[in-house]
Amino acid sequence: MDDHGTLPLTGTAYAHLFRPGYVHRDLYADPAIFAQEMRHLFGRTWVYVGHESEVPNVNDFMMRSIGRRPVIVTRLDSGDIAVLINRCTHRGALVCRTQRGNAPGFTCGYHAWTYRNDGSCIGVPLKHAYGADFHPRQNSLMRAPRVQSYRGFIFASMNEAVPPLIEHLAGARQMLDQWLDRDGGRPVLVRNGEMQFLTHANWKTVYDNAGDGYHPPFSHTSMLRVFAERYGDVDMQYYSQNFDESPILSKDLGNGHTMLDQRPAMHAHSAWARQHVQPGREVMEAALISQHGRERALQMLDDSTGSGMNLNIFPNLLIIGNQIQLLEPQAVNRTVVRWFSTTLEGAPPEINATRMRMQEDFPSFGEVDDTAQFESCQRGLEDVPELEWVDIRRHMSTGAGRVDTDGLWREPISSDLHLRCYYDAWRRIMEAGEAARQ
Ligand code: FES
Ligand SMILES: [Fe+2]
Repeated sequence: MDDHGTLPLTGTAYAHLFRPGYVHRDLYADPAIFAQEMRHLFGRTWVYVGHESEVPNVNDFMMRSIGRRPVIVTRLDSGDIAVLINRCTHRGALVCRTQRGNAPGFTCGYHAWTYRNDGSCIGVPLKHAYGADFHPRQNSLMRAPRVQSYRGFIFASMNEAVPPLIEHLAGARQMLDQWLDRDGGRPVLVRNGEMQFLTHANWKTVYDNAGDGYHPPFSHTSMLRVFAERYGDVDMQYYSQNFDESPILSKDLGNGHTMLDQRPAMHAHSAWARQHVQPGREVMEAALISQHGRERALQMLDDSTGSGMNLNIFPNLLIIGNQIQLLEPQAVNRTVVRWFSTTLEGAPPEINATRMRMQEDFPSFGEVDDTAQFESCQRGLEDVPELEWVDIRRHMSTGAGRVDTDGLWREPISSDLHLRCYYDAWRRIMEAGEAARQ
């Protein structure tokens, strides 16, 4: 993709929702469009369903979703990951109703049809009533036809013909590599609990915000002021000046994936030194220096401090700092947002403790600001039918974009590049879904 939000499209089913620099409010407020997104978008592309470290052992499982479809992500005897559609082939009940656990199979709570964790149906009570040619195995659970992992990140697709995951990830792959390769590339563990909340907003509002480098100094004023007044020039204080002139930037990674890259400012000297005060900071730093020497200890702390990346992998995976955020659309105006903290396998306990302290910080302190904006946008978009259009014009015509040294397109941090890029992907996938239906 090389035109960053202006791709020519062949289908026209959704053309009325777009005009240059604007998208229509129906994208956020119309339940019919939401239903089509669940069918065409989440049903046709790759969707993030979890991390391999969440199901490390044979028979581990967890409940997730592909759009609204409930699924079970489980590890088979072979070590492979399967994604089962959590819908009994009898009358449709959920066969698994426990968020996570370890089990070789699932028995539906309604009439006790039983399935192995590869999906095969192995038990049907009183099965004589179905006739002599009835075989349980013909009633096995559906499985997501495509499941692939990239360095621990598990994606599934309901679309047999979806392009390979690597192709789909496009430029996001090299950014994921950079995220994973910090501190010697120790394996990431997603096993430390999560923070989950329901917001009364459309799922795309959350995705819009993840790539929005325009709002931080305004939406997060109180947070930035507290840090500035107590600790001085730390954390994201570079947002206090004309931040479009600062080295931080927005990037198009292709296929609707984008990134806010704060590393040029956050990591310019020492990411650890920029990190504001947190409980135990001096003690952890001193312990690491005594064990590993000053240079190595500070390097480890730099590598483990917030990544400086907001990596947005369309449509539902957001990597923010050291954290993984998963979006679960529930309805046109309801979204579950799940924040997963990460630690590193084999890292010194002080490093993982430091990561945990940092990860407690932003969702607790900053996400409330963002969530207030999500719900406020939803109110305005749902309740004012006379005003139909949503503005996504920032830096569309300033000529400030250019190809970066890594070959990827970049624009100033406050650009709406991310919206223009992901709506291109949205239209391409949705139009293809519509065409396939006809
Ligand atoms: S609905 Fe599952 S056994 Fe009847
Ligand atoms: Fe924010």
